[in-house]
Amino acid sequence: MLKEYHKPVLEREVLDALGLGSIAHLNNAGKYIDATLGHAGHSIVIAKTGSSVLGIEADEDMILIAKERIDAEHLGENIKIANGNFRDIDKIAGDKDYSQVDGILFDLGISSYHYTQEERGFSFKDPEAELDMRLNAKEQGVKASELLNVLREDQLFEMFYQVLGRNEARKLCKVILRTREEKPFKTVGDIIRVVDRVGGIRSGRIHPATKVFLALRIAVNGELDNINEALPKAFGLLKKGGKIAVISFHSLEDSIVKKYFSNLVKMGVGKYSGAELIKPTETEVTENPLSRSAVLRVIEKI
Ligand SMILES: C[S@@+](CC[C@H](N)C(=O)[O-])C[C@H]1O[C@@H](n2cnc3c(N)ncnc32)[C@H](O)[C@@H]1O
Repeated sequence: MLKEYHKPVLEREVLDALGLGSIAHLNNAGKYIDATLGHAGHSIVIAKTGSSVLGIEADEDMILIAKERIDAEHLGENIKIANGNFRDIDKIAGDKDYSQVDGILFDLGISSYHYTQEERGFSFKDPEAELDMRLNAKEQGVKASELLNVLREDQLFEMFYQVLGRNEARKLCKVILRTREEKPFKTVGDIIRVVDRVGGIRSGRIHPATKVFLALRIAVNGELDNINEALPKAFGLLKKGGKIAVISFHSLEDSIVKKYFSNLVKMGVGKYSGAELIKPTETEVTENPLSRSAVLRVIEKI
């Protein structure tokens, strides 16, 4: 068994948002989809309310660990698992008889476990690791290193500017082009050296390569397109009174969620459930620093 599982973020707030937060809510036990199963932290607490859960996960490694954990909790009957991409949530839910549900959770991005799997290239700790970053290597053909080797300058700029800003992205693209003429990108160290050569990509206390890695990960996994595609499909799966809860970790994710939810409200088909924006408490941030940038938004179907 794994020593340390991914710690679920905003756990109590998610339960409250889905109407499962206290004993008094237990008769609300229903059917839920966890679109980002991960290590099943959220799925397990939802299932413990007596609810049934369909957990979707793109990464097979995560599923192996989630299964082990779910079995140890004797919750195998309550939690079904599907290996797939949440952008296909409508099809996956249909296949598993989850097309009318009480709530859907998206806990976006990758898990703390991914950063510990240095050979997969999500972390900049091991310079020799391959710069891969695919969540599902069976279905996704293109590694982060290959994007750096094949994209044209304008495409590289497109990939980086939303995360880095125009000036930093422009400087970075120039150095990437020069570097790959000498030697193609292959490892984590190759891109770290480029970041070092560009200099200046620093925001506050975070490592200068953090944003470059984020931009690459978003591109390799089509993360923003996935969210754009999944949210309307998810809304279509909700019963009246059902809720979608989304935890985002950066403004590119959150602005998609914010815009989509505000459109639902304007169209008169959705209403905000509780506060429009929920953040972790100081205690949670102290206990789990990875939660510091998390924001939760919840919409209810009316
Ligand atoms: C922040 S973690 C979720 C952690 C989980 N809530 C827990 O408590 O263990 C996000 C998970 O979503 C998965 N993921 C990311 N994008 C996905 C997608 N488009 N479809 C399915 N799973 C995805 C990642 O592999 C990762 O395991």
